[in-house]
Amino acid sequence: MKYGHFDDEKREYVITQPDTPLPWINYLGCQSYFGIISNTAGGYSFYRDARLRRVTRYRYNNVPYDLGGRYIYLRDDESGEFWSPSWQPTRHNVEDYTCRHGLGYTVIGSRYNGIEARSNYFVPLDEDLEIWRLTVTNQRSHPASLSVFSSIEFCLWDANDDATNFQRNFSVGQVEIEDGVIYHKTEYRERRNHFAYFACSGHTEGFDTQREAFVGPYRGWDKPVAVERGRLSNSVAHGWAPIGVHHVKLELGPQETQEVIFLLGYHENPQEQKFDPPDSQTVNKKTVKPIIAKYLDPANVDSAFDRLRRYWDGLLAVCQVETPDLHTNRMVNVWNAYQCMATFNLSRSASFYESGIGRGLGFRDSNQDLLGFVQMVPVRARGRILDLAATQLPTGGAYHQYQPLTKRGNNDVGSNFNDDPHWLIIGVSAYLKETGDWSILDEPVPYDNAPGSEQPLYEHLRRSFQYTLDRLGPHGLPLIGRADWNDCLNLNCFSDTPGQSFQTTTNKDGKVAESVFIAALFVLAGRELAGIARRRGRIDEAQRYLAEVAKMEDTVRKYGWDGEWFLRAYDDFGRKVGSNECAEGKIFIETQGFCVLAGIGLDDGRAETALQSVSKHLATEHGIILQQPAYSKYYLELGEISSYPPGYKENAGIFCHNNPWVMIAETRVGNGDRAHDYYARINPSAREPISDLHRCEPYVYAQMIAGRDAPTHGEAKNSWLTGTAAWNYYAITQWILGIRPSFEGLEIRPVVPKGWRGFKATRMFRGATYHITVTRVGEGNQLALRVNGVPLEGAVVPPPVEGQREITVNVTLK
Ligand code: BGC
Ligand code: NOJ
Repeated sequence: MKYGHFDDEKREYVITQPDTPLPWINYLGCQSYFGIISNTAGGYSFYRDARLRRVTRYRYNNVPYDLGGRYIYLRDDESGEFWSPSWQPTRHNVEDYTCRHGLGYTVIGSRYNGIEARSNYFVPLDEDLEIWRLTVTNQRSHPASLSVFSSIEFCLWDANDDATNFQRNFSVGQVEIEDGVIYHKTEYRERRNHFAYFACSGHTEGFDTQREAFVGPYRGWDKPVAVERGRLSNSVAHGWAPIGVHHVKLELGPQETQEVIFLLGYHENPQEQKFDPPDSQTVNKKTVKPIIAKYLDPANVDSAFDRLRRYWDGLLAVCQVETPDLHTNRMVNVWNAYQCMATFNLSRSASFYESGIGRGLGFRDSNQDLLGFVQMVPVRARGRILDLAATQLPTGGAYHQYQPLTKRGNNDVGSNFNDDPHWLIIGVSAYLKETGDWSILDEPVPYDNAPGSEQPLYEHLRRSFQYTLDRLGPHGLPLIGRADWNDCLNLNCFSDTPGQSFQTTTNKDGKVAESVFIAALFVLAGRELAGIARRRGRIDEAQRYLAEVAKMEDTVRKYGWDGEWFLRAYDDFGRKVGSNECAEGKIFIETQGFCVLAGIGLDDGRAETALQSVSKHLATEHGIILQQPAYSKYYLELGEISSYPPGYKENAGIFCHNNPWVMIAETRVGNGDRAHDYYARINPSAREPISDLHRCEPYVYAQMIAGRDAPTHGEAKNSWLTGTAAWNYYAITQWILGIRPSFEGLEIRPVVPKGWRGFKATRMFRGATYHITVTRVGEGNQLALRVNGVPLEGAVVPPPVEGQREITVNVTLK
């Protein structure tokens, strides 16, 4: 391929041309310390919260886009020539450039004038630091005298303030330097107990901590005056822009290799041990020095890296498949699962499209992310569920977002997105099915984090369901509130003033506009809740939920059906949205996918009809469009959806998040060919050959691909942090391949293409490994299962009995 290729064996994507259409990035860290790194070493780091604990500075929307990062410069001290092995920022004509994005690490390097240099960047498990392990080899036939310069720019912690409050910021920056380690301690004297440090294993010839001293006036990162000169000035930052730069000299004989380790980390001191001596203003470094010493030792770096690799091997082993389709295998076995970890960790906060400032963890988003994550680290999913539920309001409603550091609901955005509460039911149900850990339902959880308000998690779920019943509109459909899943369908907003937020401005009382999507979600969540209630012995309650579900289904049939597809909504005037009667926006994807996925229309042909309409009106070679025809002008009564030019984002873009709803819907009507075909259209690996059009990374999903109304149809945007990751993983593994945790065991019900002869899978589930072989003997979806050689009634393989570790399942499809 033009820009790179998959190394399936090593589970790496290898980029071989540095000027990719957009930065192709990776994440370092998967617990508390995180970094974003592009293929040219651009990006930044933060501790837990990309806004409040930003370790390094980053300027979004720069030119080039990903300028600023973890740069290393090499200088040939004989000729004075210098370059960067990661290509940026000097952009020399390097040879043999490669960037290997792996699971939690990235190796970038190249060769220039016979000097080969590669740097492995990663975050060790259970540590709040990143390692850059630089290896330099002299491939010349004569000795080389080289200088290595490391460089980072510190952020003054609050990334928003850092990018805006210059009258203060230019005067507050502070550092300390001790034994060649650079400590960044801005605001440590007052209200912070944390600092950052940048250390180096080599003998440091010098350092710089003031940006201006290193870069020089009217110069950029591509030509720092100090690198050109070959000497740093030991500058100590007072205000302005604290940076970290080390200078290490290397004398390399022919074919000799040497390595230098750099550490960049975050550290907190106990409040009463901030200073050393205690009455001074000097950072107490006793607590961090052992950590620094540990990771400057190459043997410890080796074992930390091995441990990281084994950790990922373990996580991915939970579900491995061998299907006839290479792209399915690649995404399921490695990259889609990997992306699900990123979305779980970061929700929609920090990527190259989310600035880390604007959005915390979304209630809706984080619950959905569980669908693709829960099988990997169930105990973290459990913690997340309890955090989310603790931000729920006593009404059953939810804060739309919360801040990762404080875990408090975000008042700026507030509540009233009327779909939100139901996603908690979906998330909890996925957790229960995966783990069988029913104890979570008894966990006391507060409302709005208020001490004393604790009630069992189960009660939270009941209130989630009730929330909608308390908010039904004129047709008996759920009122939409600020928005449902589609944040941009703002039926109560009526905003005519620039700068108002479509998500939080509400000019209508909200008693009229209704959402058919929430009705479908209510049906799905209600069925799950009934299943949970029944298994807790609350039979009457379960029946009541099912009765409400049946009533809602009826309402959808009466008022939510447009003849050939499901309607989308009613606006504030009670007029239809997503109907053949509309001039634009006649048909929407959300309700076609979600109604059928929830089981609506399966018994009366509506499901098939709706899906036929999707195929006819919305499906393109690049995926399924959100709605058609696109809105060609702004509609006050519809909101943000009509603010986007046709073909982008929610206005007739291909929203990759809800394409899997249609895939699942297709499996529900038994159409494996179409389900997998839709899956393949947006599969990033399958789109690798069209990278010049697609432009985003070929190893992860993007939120959106431009729809057919856009001049750039097929172009992806907003990669990485999107519900697309979890939903596609869920659709392919649980519905198309059909390996589906259920309350009673592991259900296996594949709906795969007719042309597949079968597939194999291993799935770890509740402590046992299921070895699954599916063999096609006919063209349909009829199943016969054998478990450890014995025929099984139905398709749910019971959970392992005590001591059982391996279970063999043979499935015949005909
Ligand atoms: C985007 C949505 C997003 C919303 C909330 C809108 O501008 O189009 O995709 O969910 O903002 O941040
Ligand atoms: C992105 C948001 O994160 C998600 O919650 C929403 O459902 C989609 N946009 C659609 O608007």
